[in-house]
Amino acid sequence: MPFDIARTRAAYPALTEGFVHFDGAGGTQTAAPVVDAVTDAMRTAIGNRSAAFTPGRRSLDLVSAARSAVADLLGAEPDGVVLGPSATALTYTLARTLGATWRPGDEVVVSRLDHDANVRPWVQAAEAAGATVRWAEVDPATGELPAGQYADLVGERTRLVAVTAGSNAIGTVPDVAAIAKTAHAAGALVCVDGVHSVPHGPTDLAALGADVLVTSAYKWSGPHLAAMVADRAVWDRLRPEKLLPSSDAVPDRFEYGTPSFPLLAGVAAAVDHLAGLDPDATGGRRERLRAGLTAAQAYEESLLERLLTGLAALPGLTVLGSPARRCPTVSFRLAGQSPQRTQEALGAAGFCLSSGDYYAYEYFRMMGLREQGGAVRASIYHYNTADEVDRLLTELDRLTGGKRTMAG
Ligand SMILES: Cc1ncc(COP(=O)(O)O)c(C=O)c1O
Repeated sequence: MPFDIARTRAAYPALTEGFVHFDGAGGTQTAAPVVDAVTDAMRTAIGNRSAAFTPGRRSLDLVSAARSAVADLLGAEPDGVVLGPSATALTYTLARTLGATWRPGDEVVVSRLDHDANVRPWVQAAEAAGATVRWAEVDPATGELPAGQYADLVGERTRLVAVTAGSNAIGTVPDVAAIAKTAHAAGALVCVDGVHSVPHGPTDLAALGADVLVTSAYKWSGPHLAAMVADRAVWDRLRPEKLLPSSDAVPDRFEYGTPSFPLLAGVAAAVDHLAGLDPDATGGRRERLRAGLTAAQAYEESLLERLLTGLAALPGLTVLGSPARRCPTVSFRLAGQSPQRTQEALGAAGFCLSSGDYYAYEYFRMMGLREQGGAVRASIYHYNTADEVDRLLTELDRLTGGKRTMAG
């Protein structure tokens, strides 16, 4: 059954404005059921969490519904889901908490492929503890993060390995399961950044080998909130800094302040929306998520193929990396034009793309491209169309002087 793109697009009210969105990696448009759920929650009486009165119980219910939804999305248990304002904030919480247990001589391994949100919190926590930081390197030609190097990077003093499940810059999908296996053999904890990978296919915490997995709902049709998931046993061992009167229960003790209850309603609605991407799917929500995201993934991959083929036919355009497994995300540069200039020219024609380093700071520094403005990123999401890809290619052809070869 082909992916029903007309049905899918109809679920995103913002698409009617007519912009061409190739910036899902920076944040997707919001699905209509999410808008409705947030609005409904704001129109309904809710109080701070309390079992004593109905509005208070509603808030308790919104929190537990969001935890259950995220658990289904990632293959976790609801009581292992920590909710928070952003992936960055949650990772800092975890880094501060773990870092307080590290000693001089301990080691942490980070990668040059990662978004800085899964690098700097660990580097800074290591510095504070006197621990050593070791770096996993990216192959500059292919954009791969070879898993084999972790055998040399990980040792008996390794306390943590932080790695991405999908690069937000060039799409690379590293072999996280193999990396995690190496890390676990040395007794290290594995923190996986799933912010870019989770929107683009089914995710399973155990299959990844992740001890902790981080995701942001605004990258998968939801509101600007994030979650960090682990087995409850992982959280049980950790004692974050916290206010004295706040709950010491797991996972609540990792969450700071009063949550945005209406936005949590949006998180659950976004997961339900993803579970409905394949209208023929049956079974529980986790099964329907697998079906819906598998269908969306195949569709996105067909668009990626079309985009890569078209980009290859544009002389004067260079695509960064050629990883074997990738999310539908591509960075490129036009000869003789700054990425920002390309972004602005595309923006003037109605195309929404990012330029710069998109916080993949270490990758662009390693490539020597930070000082040259980074790159332009085309990031595909399941509401994009083949026609949009073709229009982007035509616009890029114009910007590169109209010398497209027949291969495109
Ligand atoms: C791969 C990746 N990790 C982490 C983040 C940070 O997410 P947040 O904005 O929720 O802090 C981003 C944001 O773009 C990202 O793309």
